[in-house]
Amino acid sequence: MTHRTQVAIIGAGPAGLMLGHLLHRAGIDSVILETRSEAYVVERVRAGVLEQGTVDLMRESGLGERLDREGLRHEGLSIAFAGSRHRIDLSGLTGGRAITIYGQHEVVKDLIAARTAAGRPVHFNVERVVVDELASERPRVRYVQDDASHEILSDFIAGCDGSHGTCRSSMPAAHTQTFEHEYPFGWLGILAEAAPASDELIYSCHSRGFALFSMRSPTITRLYLQCAPDEDLSQWSDDRIWSELRVRLGTEDGWVPADGPILQKSVTGMRSVVTEPMRYGRLFLAGDAAHIVPPTGAKGLNLAMADVRRLASALVSFYVAADDTALNEYSGMALRRTWRAQRFSSWMTSALHRVEHASGFEHRRQLAELEYLVGSRAAMTSFAENYVG
Ligand code: APR
Ligand code: PHB
Repeated sequence: MTHRTQVAIIGAGPAGLMLGHLLHRAGIDSVILETRSEAYVVERVRAGVLEQGTVDLMRESGLGERLDREGLRHEGLSIAFAGSRHRIDLSGLTGGRAITIYGQHEVVKDLIAARTAAGRPVHFNVERVVVDELASERPRVRYVQDDASHEILSDFIAGCDGSHGTCRSSMPAAHTQTFEHEYPFGWLGILAEAAPASDELIYSCHSRGFALFSMRSPTITRLYLQCAPDEDLSQWSDDRIWSELRVRLGTEDGWVPADGPILQKSVTGMRSVVTEPMRYGRLFLAGDAAHIVPPTGAKGLNLAMADVRRLASALVSFYVAADDTALNEYSGMALRRTWRAQRFSSWMTSALHRVEHASGFEHRRQLAELEYLVGSRAAMTSFAENYVG
């Protein structure tokens, strides 16, 4: 069966869904294809920190209602090291900007609800997605759904299919370059049914390794421990996880994170990836399909949202004003933001993680880095500007 649309969107993560939503609001038709099931996409536990720009985008595009009701606005965070905790006043240092805690899966839920209300399709559980004829004005997508073959003819294809998707690898190798860096760390993450014992995030650089205290709601805490990239989760009983979290996050005055039943645990490795350019012919990459950042700066979701905001507005200029300037500038502009986020995320990762077998010099240098950060208003301002986006 052959379908016709203006923009074929591959992937129903936050990037693909937000792009479809923004295009629909501008009267541009799209079809979204997703290999996973709707339940999987909605329930997947991922990021949870929205920068001000992402919150603004949700509000401006009519998705602010539940976010404003349930999102937790944070105007600061703490950095802990060498036995003490230091608050960074994100809002005071950035003229009132803040971050909002709202799970990525909540964003995805809101976007799917908007898509459904608009009556526009998201095809879940599709298989064998192939993108083709990218350099022509009629790029083509083929896929299989319920054993039937389908074809989409469109003006553009948006590759929003994440880090393991098919779009990036469909760009000719001679036309693209991929830059990668693996970090020698992983994060063991848990979601726990426990009221957050602190109102704000705590990033802790401890001699036993990095730990992060975060949350999802007034009853759910999200916590992470630095571990090996290939850490064996079966070695981590719930008791061992809690006692390690108490050691790495606890303070001298007796503060420890409140514990409770662990709802979910996982290990993820950390890497940086950037593919350049983010465009080939009529195929445009956005989000994790084009770049991965280590989670330390909480940038992944926000970069994906910034990409699709830019891409949607460039497509609107193309359709409404017959102007392709913004489309031609998309990759260069998105990459500038991406590298800025890579720089910050990789700096924050190295400033806070414990490197095994590092020299005494390295430990002292790391300590000096953190002392400078929390002791200098200029350094804190730079941190805050980068963190809130
Ligand atoms: N065809 C269709 N869909 C695909 C294909 C394919 N060949 N391959 C992958 N997908 C789907 C995945 O199942 C996933 O749902 O594309 C979607 C990509 O979504 P995400 O991985 O969430 O990526 P993105 O939308 O760019 O959002 C970035 O995700 O990893 C986090 O921290 C990151 O928060 C950031 C966000
Ligand atoms: C999270 O809440 O999942 C989270 C918070 C901050 C980060 C990364 C993840 O830097």
